[in-house]
Amino acid sequence: MNAHSQMPDIVVLPDPAAVAEEAARRFVALAAQAVQARGRFTVALAGGTTPGALYHLLARLPYRNQIAWERTLIFFGDERCVPPDHPWSNYRMAQEALLAHVPVPAGNIYRMAGELPSESAAAGYAGLLRQVFHLRGTARPRLDLILLGMGEDGHTASLFPDMPALQERRRLVVATQVPEYVQPPVARITLTLPVLNAACHVMFLVTGANKAGKVGAILGPGPLESAPESRSCVKSRDRGRQVFPAGRVQPTHGVLTWLLDRAAAGFASKTS
Ligand code: 6PG
Repeated sequence: MNAHSQMPDIVVLPDPAAVAEEAARRFVALAAQAVQARGRFTVALAGGTTPGALYHLLARLPYRNQIAWERTLIFFGDERCVPPDHPWSNYRMAQEALLAHVPVPAGNIYRMAGELPSESAAAGYAGLLRQVFHLRGTARPRLDLILLGMGEDGHTASLFPDMPALQERRRLVVATQVPEYVQPPVARITLTLPVLNAACHVMFLVTGANKAGKVGAILGPGPLESAPESRSCVKSRDRGRQVFPAGRVQPTHGVLTWLLDRAAAGFASKTS
């Protein structure tokens, strides 16, 4: 861990719908702050299925009208190596749930080219980040917000346990293979830890009891040890932080938020 990273803000909400609502409120607030401070809002979207509910909300009132879409620049945290119209494409999911329904200029959407050879696509995306953020030398882009999910194995973006991409310290974007248990079984393009940890704000959206084990390992004791449903920090968080990729996301000079539903936080589900 680094000397500057802060304790994560951990918020436990009743269910996945409440996680999406809370994420939408925070997205709107962060967008407004960024536009006021810097004239634009730069955000990297997450893939997988969990953020779909957030994207649907942002595409509808009241949230849709609360975001300065013409000043919003859309990036992606990772992409599956498939064409943009493929059912596995993270871009396609974001496009269908959100981007097609809001007035974000097409030129503000920076997708990863999943249809290209993965190494070229990764290099191309790194070049694009350098250009948009006016980076020189080894500088990293400081996105206003990076949305992330977490897999059952503790992976985030396409940084998987025991894969070389997780160790990348220099490049901004890399291509990676996936462990054999991962679906869909295609190579990925992913932002690297240095980019995730350079963000102003990183927000994880994690729902479902199948994620509770890794959430507990990364964030510390679950409900049995800490009763309040919103806790700003937990003990023994270092235990799982270094082991699982999601635990290694600790923005150096930024805010880290985990939005969890009760199931992911380890609360037993209600029985009828
Ligand atoms: C992807 C991802 C990945 C995802 C997690 C959680 O392309 O699959 O970006 O990191 O966020 O696997 O996925 P779910 O939300 O589907 O559980």
